[in-house]
Parts: sequence; structure tokens; C-alpha cells
Amino acid sequence: MGEEVNILGIETSCDETAAAVVADGRFIKSSVVASQAELHEKYGGVVPEIASRAHIEKLYPVLSEAMERAGLEKNDIDAVAVADRPGLVVALIIGVTAAKTLAMAWKKPLIAVNHLHAHLHSAMLTEEKLELPAVSLVVSGGHTSLYECSSPLDLKLLGSTIDDAAGEAFDKVATILHLPYPGGPSIEKAAEKGNPKAIDFPRSMLEAGSLDFSFSGIKTAVLYYCHGQDMKGEDKVPSMSEQEIADIAASFQAAVVDVLVAKTKLAADKLNARTVLLGGGVAANSSLRKALERMCEQSGPSTGSGRSRKLLVAPKPYCTDNAVMVASLAYYKFKAGQFADLTLEPQARG
Ligand code: KG4
Ligand code: ZN
Repeated sequence: MGEEVNILGIETSCDETAAAVVADGRFIKSSVVASQAELHEKYGGVVPEIASRAHIEKLYPVLSEAMERAGLEKNDIDAVAVADRPGLVVALIIGVTAAKTLAMAWKKPLIAVNHLHAHLHSAMLTEEKLELPAVSLVVSGGHTSLYECSSPLDLKLLGSTIDDAAGEAFDKVATILHLPYPGGPSIEKAAEKGNPKAIDFPRSMLEAGSLDFSFSGIKTAVLYYCHGQDMKGEDKVPSMSEQEIADIAASFQAAVVDVLVAKTKLAADKLNARTVLLGGGVAANSSLRKALERMCEQSGPSTGSGRSRKLLVAPKPYCTDNAVMVASLAYYKFKAGQFADLTLEPQARG
């Protein structure tokens, strides 16, 4: 039996400071996430400078705890991995600098991973044998992207949002509805008691066959619904009943889910995909998970064994930003010999 490969992963691309140790890409030895949500709450969104400063304060204790919980010493670690893109550069640079420092001090290889690709690896965690090709949907606060996945390291972008990301739309609509930050979980909770058919919000599909997304129209539709078409009316939300707010939340959520599912199905049919992978913060949404599950049961590849496709979703704790996904993807790069050097710099886009 070969020795297991332990990778220390670091994630600081947005407002979560995270470190984790994962063995062989799948066995989680520790995962520590320090959320900064309460620091950004009063601004209704992530403030880059505040995020950067908080990463500086939290990263050392988070790293120490990840190593301690894993029960490992530096000599047991085979490589140090870090998300180097995409994200807020002032935030990414804290993780990248720490990873470079540890790699140098511990004399271990450094591995750079794309944060969005890492989100999809959260969905592969529970799967021993991935059936390919897969269509992969990453829905987060900053991104909405569809990929073709022909191997764990081979992701080809098929489409992405041309304006707001899905999570961003959830966050903005929560602000319009005066629901607490972060918006996604608040909308989901409010929507539980609402009627998803109460209001027919627009479902923007863009031109026929397009695999790109647009969510700014639906956000504006909710805004007009609450403030009047000319935006001159006063904010009606404070005088609305809990039921009315629940109906808006449920109708908004249903519209976003419809678009995400329709585009994923289009891509999956085009590629004859056997598997659909779902990752990113919005993947925590039960309504989206259920709708994709239904779509996968009802449609499948035209050839091969079985007619339905398999949906693989990131376990809930690993939907939002974490370092397990970084260490997990890094394992495949480790095996492929894809290492970074100490000139690594963070990138806003990726
Ligand atoms: O992946 P993530 O932690 O950070 C980014 O990389 O952006 O995603 C955060 C996003 C936020 O917009 C948050 O509102 C959304 O994921 N989110 C949800 C849910 N939980 C988190 N959206 C819808 N339903 C949820 N249950
Ligand atoms: Zn993310």
C-alpha cells in the first residue's frame, strides 16, 4: 500500500479564512473556517480592505488549528495548496503569501488552484468513481459558471453570467426585502412559507442555445415590484405582511432555479453528460438541489448504461467557501506534477 498524500489547503479569496488538511484528495483530516460575515453585515456586502485585514488576523490561528486537529506535523505534509484566483486580490494575497512562506520554510511543493474549479471538487468528494463527461455548475456569490468536465483536472468553460452572479442576486434581493445578510440562506428560509407561483418574475434565457446567464433583470423586477415601476413610489416592503414577503422570496427563488436548471440541462444534453456536478455557495439551496435532482432523473445520456444522469452535489458544509475543496483539487495537481513556484501572484480573474 502506498503512502497517503496529505495536502494542506488555504483559502482566502473572499470573506472566509479557511485551512484544511485532506489526504488523497478525499479524506478530510481537518477543516477550519473562520467566517467574517458579521464584519461585513452592516455594509450589506464584502468590503475588500476589511476582508484583507481580517484574513491577516485569522489565518495564523486557523492554520494552527487545522494542523492540530489533523494531528499532523509539518513533516507529514506533502504539499501546500492555495486558491490563487479568481477573487479579491487584496484578500487572495494573504493566503498566497502564507502558502509561499510555508512552502519555502517547510521545503514542500506549492500548488495553486482556481477557486471555482475547487468548488466543483467539493461535489466530487463523496464519489469514488466519477462517470464522465460531466457538466458542472458553480453558483456562488461572485460567479455563475457552467463547465464541461472531461477529467478532474480538465474543465472547459461553457458559459457564465454576463452581469450578476446567482448568489449576488440572492444577496441583493434579500437587501431589497430587508432580510438579513448573507441573503441566500435568508431568502431560502423566507421562501419556505411562500408560494413560488405568486408572482411571475422574468426568466432570462438570453438567445436560443446560449449557455450564459443573466440575473440583473430579475433583481430589477423584484425592485420594481417593491418600489413601483418608476422607482418613485416608497419602499412597500416595511408595510408588507410576512406572507407577501415569503411569496416574493419564493417566486424569485423559483425563477432563478428554473434558469439554472434549464441551462444545465441544455449543456448536459448537448454533451451527453453522465454526471452533473453542483458546487458553490448557492448549491446549499435545497430548492435548487431538488430541481436538479428531478432534471437528472428525467433526462439522461442517449447511450451507455442507464438512462438517468447522476447528480453530485457538494455536502452542505463544503458548498460555501472552505479549504477542503482547495486541498482536494490540489491532490490531482500533485499527482500530475502541476506545481507553482514562489513567484506566484494572485489574480482577480481566472
Ligand atoms: O461560494 P461562496 O461561499 O462564496 C463565493 O465564492 O462567492 O458563496 C456565497 C454565496 C452568497 O451569495 C450566499 O448568499 C449564497 O452563496 N448562498 C445561498 C445559500 N447559502 C449561501 N444562496 C441560496 N441559498 C442558500 N441556501
Ligand atoms: Zn466561493
